Amino acid sequence: MSQRYYVTTPIYYVNDDPHIGHAYTTLACDVIARFKRLDGFEVKFLTGTDEHGQKVAKSAAVAGMDPQAFTDKVSKNFRDLAGVMNYSNDDFIRTTEDRHTRACQALWRALQEKGEIYLGSYAGWYAVRDEAFYAESELKPGPGGKRIAPSGAEAEWMEEPSYFFRLSAWQERLLKFYDEHPGFILPKSRRNEVTSFVSGGLQDLSISRTTFTWGVPVPGDEAHIMYVWLDALTNYITAVGYPVIDKGEYPRFWPADLHMVGKDILRFHAVYWPAFLMAAGLQPPKRVFAHGWWTNEGQKISKSVGNIIDPIALVNTYGLDPVRYFLLREVPFGNDGDFSHAAMVNRMNGELANDYGNLAQRALSMIARNCDGKVPDPTDKLDRQTWPTLATLSNAQALIDEIRPMIDRQAFHEAIERVWAIIRDANRFVDSEAPWALKNTDVRRMEAVLYVLAEVIRHITIILQPFMPGSCGKILDQLAVPTNARDFNALNTSGHFIDENSLKPGTPLPKPEGVFPRFQEPGTEAAKGAGKGANPGGKAGKGAGKKRGKG
Ligand code: MSP
Repeated sequence: MSQRYYVTTPIYYVNDDPHIGHAYTTLACDVIARFKRLDGFEVKFLTGTDEHGQKVAKSAAVAGMDPQAFTDKVSKNFRDLAGVMNYSNDDFIRTTEDRHTRACQALWRALQEKGEIYLGSYAGWYAVRDEAFYAESELKPGPGGKRIAPSGAEAEWMEEPSYFFRLSAWQERLLKFYDEHPGFILPKSRRNEVTSFVSGGLQDLSISRTTFTWGVPVPGDEAHIMYVWLDALTNYITAVGYPVIDKGEYPRFWPADLHMVGKDILRFHAVYWPAFLMAAGLQPPKRVFAHGWWTNEGQKISKSVGNIIDPIALVNTYGLDPVRYFLLREVPFGNDGDFSHAAMVNRMNGELANDYGNLAQRALSMIARNCDGKVPDPTDKLDRQTWPTLATLSNAQALIDEIRPMIDRQAFHEAIERVWAIIRDANRFVDSEAPWALKNTDVRRMEAVLYVLAEVIRHITIILQPFMPGSCGKILDQLAVPTNARDFNALNTSGHFIDENSLKPGTPLPKPEGVFPRFQEPGTEAAKGAGKGANPGGKAGKGAGKKRGKG
């Protein structure tokens, strides 16, 4: 039986166009999904849009549109982003779909049958921007008798009849659950925040609204619609077929392996969601990872400041794979990070063009020139005793076993750093072996050196595919690696320098071509509309800088 992996993104509010925060969360999940597929797992990767609630209803009203027509339009922008960013999601859920209404109502009934829901009335503070209830003690005074939430959102006083979920009764059971599952919340610092919040005591949670209608009707009492967070969280089980739990995808994929979320929505995922599930007799997910937030050139990103980063503009300026690489390389995953043009160009030119691109380009063009464009033959030319630099190859072969646990704890930056240690080592190996000189002194050794390089490049490129699928695919094409030999099974982990997975000597290779161009600052003409820096846009960058280093 194959191993399975279920990974989800938050579902995004359709009140706005996608921005870098959305692109980032989904990218992290995409890398994990791709990694797991290459590692032989059966993967389900879910993303989608959160379309109900007061916030979306208000945005629709502002746009002068009917909420359904409005959500159809904005949801599509999120779906289109998947194409631009090369996401490999297997499903895209919209909370306005029938399958989701059925799941929400079934979950409600399950909670009701277990005595977890009662009717009362809510009187307290509510912030529409966060779609969240706040206690007086969490708020600061704001204008016109309003209050300001820790997120900066305005909270208003609200009084209405409401159903409640008996969250207060779950405090001890949640604490026990966190204790027994130390990996449930990552990073650790976030876990501590959640446990101290829960230790402070929990209040019953209002889970229905009566003052507007854009939501899932409460079964049996249609004057109420469900609180948008109960509705939204349920998407994770809707997508695996809930309420059908004895066949289909539910038994295969639930509990989810990973809910990836931003730090702002951790409480909903790590407190309310496991409580709802346990209360309904369902298993909680295995992990919630809360990542940090991006700033733009040091400034908090906000609509009012006008410094929202549009992921499509980034891709147009720098190219897709450099953006994918940068986002997961620049910041230790879990921490906040700053997007700046300078940092982006630095990584792009230093690590992609100079380190990785140059390694591939040097090796492949030397093979093209000096080995008749065919995979060189190292047979009988590799000598362990006299050639200690073979460590370069065995380190590349050991890489996958080192990277796997890093990906399993969502430490993307560590995984990338580890790969780059190998890349830098391989570049030093080229310099010290100087195969261009061996050409005149020791052709056998030159062939062995170039073979080792080609194998090292094959290993790191197979492993880097989840991060930069397009570019890595091109490098593997240039190594003539068949498309069915690009998963982790095709790596050489046999402990022999060469095994049946290794490149076959004599295989003809296509003409090498650089894959990672340097970013060149567009000239004033080209820069028009590029808007580099605070809000990159335009198309100047993508084709720019096609010149690459030669080997
Ligand atoms: N609809 C809810 C999620 C429901 S999940 C059952 C929601 N949607 S959202 O569209 O507002 O936010 C989606 C994600 O974007 C969150 O994970 C949030 O952390 C992330 N980001 C929003 N701005 C961000 C940055 N500036 N940087 C990084 N991520 C950010 O919340």
